[in-house]
Amino acid sequence: MKSKTLYILFFFSVLQLFSCKEKETDLLAFNSEVLKSETLSTDQKVSMLLDRMTLEEKIGQMNQYNGFWDFTGPEPKGGEAAQKMDNLKKGWVGSMLNVTGVKDVRAVQKIAVEESRLGIPLIIGFDVIHGYKTISPIPIAEAASWDLEAIKNSAQVAALEASAAGINWTFAPMVDISRDARWGRVMEGAGEDPYLGSKIAIARVEGFQGTDLSSPSTIAACAKHFAAYGFAEAGRDYNTADVGTSTLNNIILPPFKAAKDAGVKTFMNSFNDLNGIPATGDTYLQRTVLKEKWNFDGFVVSDWGSIAEMIAHGYAKDGNHAAELAVNAGSDMDMESHLYVNELASLVKQGKVDEALIHDAAGRILKVKFELGLFDDPYKYCDEAREASVIGSQSNLDEVLDVAKKSIVLLKNQSNLLPLSKKGKKIAVIGALASDKTSPLGNWRLAAENNSAVSLLEGLKAYSKNTITYAKGADVVTGKTEFVSELTINTTDTSGFNEAILTAKNADVVIMALGEHGLQSGEGRSRANIGLPGVQQQLLEAVYAVNKNIILVLSNGRPLTITWAAQHIPTILEGWHLGTQSGNALAQVIYGDYNPSGKLPMTFPRSVGQVPLYYNFKNTGRPTIPGSDLVFWTHYTDEENTPLYPFGFGLSYTTFSYENLTVLNTYTKNKEVTVTVKVTNTGKTKGKETAQLYLRDMYASVTRPVRELKGFKQFMLQPGESKKITFTLTDKELGFFNNQEQWVIEKGAFEVFVGGDSATKNKAEFAL
Ligand code: BGC
Repeated sequence: MKSKTLYILFFFSVLQLFSCKEKETDLLAFNSEVLKSETLSTDQKVSMLLDRMTLEEKIGQMNQYNGFWDFTGPEPKGGEAAQKMDNLKKGWVGSMLNVTGVKDVRAVQKIAVEESRLGIPLIIGFDVIHGYKTISPIPIAEAASWDLEAIKNSAQVAALEASAAGINWTFAPMVDISRDARWGRVMEGAGEDPYLGSKIAIARVEGFQGTDLSSPSTIAACAKHFAAYGFAEAGRDYNTADVGTSTLNNIILPPFKAAKDAGVKTFMNSFNDLNGIPATGDTYLQRTVLKEKWNFDGFVVSDWGSIAEMIAHGYAKDGNHAAELAVNAGSDMDMESHLYVNELASLVKQGKVDEALIHDAAGRILKVKFELGLFDDPYKYCDEAREASVIGSQSNLDEVLDVAKKSIVLLKNQSNLLPLSKKGKKIAVIGALASDKTSPLGNWRLAAENNSAVSLLEGLKAYSKNTITYAKGADVVTGKTEFVSELTINTTDTSGFNEAILTAKNADVVIMALGEHGLQSGEGRSRANIGLPGVQQQLLEAVYAVNKNIILVLSNGRPLTITWAAQHIPTILEGWHLGTQSGNALAQVIYGDYNPSGKLPMTFPRSVGQVPLYYNFKNTGRPTIPGSDLVFWTHYTDEENTPLYPFGFGLSYTTFSYENLTVLNTYTKNKEVTVTVKVTNTGKTKGKETAQLYLRDMYASVTRPVRELKGFKQFMLQPGESKKITFTLTDKELGFFNNQEQWVIEKGAFEVFVGGDSATKNKAEFAL
């Protein structure tokens, strides 16, 4: 320890001996000598600050409130708001969420800094899931780009804008793997695969946090929801998850571990019960795995009210018991249960909670605040000029357009209806979603203005000189769409069909914009039926009856069962919810300015009865017997086993061939297996391909999936151009977690597949 540091430590210890109560002058000295010191380490500062805090103040750091008052207006006079304000002034609030905009954040921060005894700044959290005001595609859409740089840039734009609005902590990325398209929150994640999910988790953490967390344009990230929230039974949000060791370690945890290794500062636990223990009260997850095995030194925030929800789960007797269970299990911050602030001090005094745990939790939270630079300047995210210039800037719009066009997936392009010519065409555009300027923003875009997205119709008009006629055909949802538990889906009104049919009859090409409204997926938006909602299927069939030249542009936050469309409609474009620049991105793809390159991050089922359907399934003892009419094998009697569109699938305006798949097995020499393949652009347009490598471990001490993604490479090829692509497999790719939770690499036979999707037949073999 440097001598200056020792001196400061000594000085303040002596000071404390002489004065129990802070004097303002001492505080000022402490602030400038210690908290802003350039010689003390963050850990030293945290520990010296903790030493000056009362038990209640430490607990206060662990208390997070939702924005409860207009902080720029008069103070609340009574009720819960007044009580919260009082706690804020006492220094019993460590964080606020849902306070946004420089004016409000500055006002609330001022109360914490100027009116509480120690003046500890608040950490200000918000769900910046896919953008703040300038909205990127929903996360599942971005995942379809498989473009890690574009995904990172998108998170960076989100951080730029959010930090300019006073926010310094986002509750993102959601890194939950899910295999269930019924679950509404698949829109928020990276899909079904742990390898792709891990890479995307890293890109997003790096995008939000940057290389310097103390910069005013980066924010702390939060890997959520720890853990197994995406395995809610039957895809029903908040439902129970029951998962074995193998699935937990090999499928669910890897993206969380990747986020931790990328330096994510916080984790959020989850609403679900996992194997009988609510995640919020799960010591194994939060202490054994996260804090001990992985050595995570940031903090864990509960999900909204999830500490109190342990009572409804049937795990805690009452609020007091819930607080005890949660803090002992390793939940450091209480989001809106109000139980830590009300119960923890007495639990410590009764000896039910060890004060060392409070010390540890508060220390973790303070550490992140130091790393954000909040002790150097609590108002560093409160710069009105930056707020005005950064939010909605042209460069932000350019970035989100870039990732939006890369997120689009071409699912079908029979007889090359796409790309469309930019002039001389009579185009009918049909569907309420074509003119909608709110739905493309998707869910979780709390700060964006309604009607702020470029609609498909606007994009189509702006990019061409074609004659474009629009007919709505039918509404998808009617009435209020925001903050209502059930959207009113139009299941009866077909009065617009005739106009749509007439418009389609007179057109060369029909573009039909169908799918889910942006708020039909997201939290609490699980669906038992995942076809086109309402009367849209009827509308599609009615239009098809008069004009078969249809380009179906889908908007959705989850895989849909579009089996009829896949059989009949010549061209299908998966357009998700693409954010602010939606219409421009779609128009660029439709008119060929951008050659689609997206690949599905989640399997599209044929029927909802197949769900959960995923590519990395186990073979079973009775796998498919091709061509057999036997009864006793794993199958449905009324549906195929195969998906409608497999994971990793996506077409281009050009075609690619894969040849010469070879394996150079030098594992015994240098623990490496090298796989090469020659990829050629066999079409007439330049295009971007994502070559995907899948492994199958043929037999092992724990059965392994039929395929597992273990590498991908993205590259551009000119027409006729070939490229040799090389993948290197090491113990990281060749091993797995056994049921004793050990990472093992087992000898034996492997198959390796490389191609443009998870169903590729290009196969080679090797053995370890
Ligand atoms: C969600 C979290 C979110 C939190 C705060 C909860 O309902 O599950 O993902 O971060 O609310 O808005």
